[in-house]
Amino acid sequence: MSTRITAPAVRDAKGQRKLTMLTAYDYPMAQFVDQAGIDMILVGDSLAMVVLGHQDTLAVGMDEMLHHTRAVSRGAARALVIGDMPFMSYQVSDAQAVTNAGRFLKEAQAQAVKLEGGARVLSRVRAILDAGIPVQGHLGLTPQSAAQLGGFKVQGKSAAAAQRLIEDAQSLAEAGCFSIVLEAIPAPIAERITAAVPVPTIGIGAGPHCDGQVLVIHDLLGLFERFLPRFVKQYANLAGDIRNAVSRFKEDVETGRFPAAEHCFAMAPEELEKIQ
Ligand code: KIV
Repeated sequence: MSTRITAPAVRDAKGQRKLTMLTAYDYPMAQFVDQAGIDMILVGDSLAMVVLGHQDTLAVGMDEMLHHTRAVSRGAARALVIGDMPFMSYQVSDAQAVTNAGRFLKEAQAQAVKLEGGARVLSRVRAILDAGIPVQGHLGLTPQSAAQLGGFKVQGKSAAAAQRLIEDAQSLAEAGCFSIVLEAIPAPIAERITAAVPVPTIGIGAGPHCDGQVLVIHDLLGLFERFLPRFVKQYANLAGDIRNAVSRFKEDVETGRFPAAEHCFAMAPEELEKIQ
């Protein structure tokens, strides 16, 4: 059995090698990702959009996140499994944040949690860390605050906003986060942040200078067609493959090509004859 990657091992990898993280939401995808040697599997609240069909990430709650995290944990033997704390699972109080973070580890076998925000979630981060739970930060475009940010927009474009991001990242690192996701921020700012913190930055739409990269697996595989962010590199077109396979099945059934002899169970002729 392979040894599980730990949160301290991720932290210590800074400057040693590039880190990889992908999302997964179910058992088979977790197996594929894990077997490919990806370091971290994030059970992202992007679940709401790419799997459950919601318009944004706000709709998903703890019960759905735990359900999917359990499935991912069953499929991941080596990667660090990170549960993404959904909207309103940590915003209310430190106590609520600790209780819900604990549920990811206790009820869904995750090894860490991620939550969105900088200075304003510091007390939550500290409380969760005090409970012995590793925390990954998330700065820049934080989809749970999209309404406040004015939509899904690139963040940190002014000097003042960039400065705030650098300070937020330093605060998260000082608090004890083992890594920080940087989403949709200019590459030079991600480079500054990466140089300014002692923990790995994991970029998504944040350029090549981050310590690691993360993508939503449905984007990478071409499985989510509603929109494709500019920062995504698509490595497959599974939506096309699935449509093609389903159409061929339909055609085969309608023309009698399926099932063929090799898909059928035989029966001894003498047994068949006994039937009235
Ligand atoms: O929910 C998610 O998938 C995420 C990644 C985009 C980092 O937060």
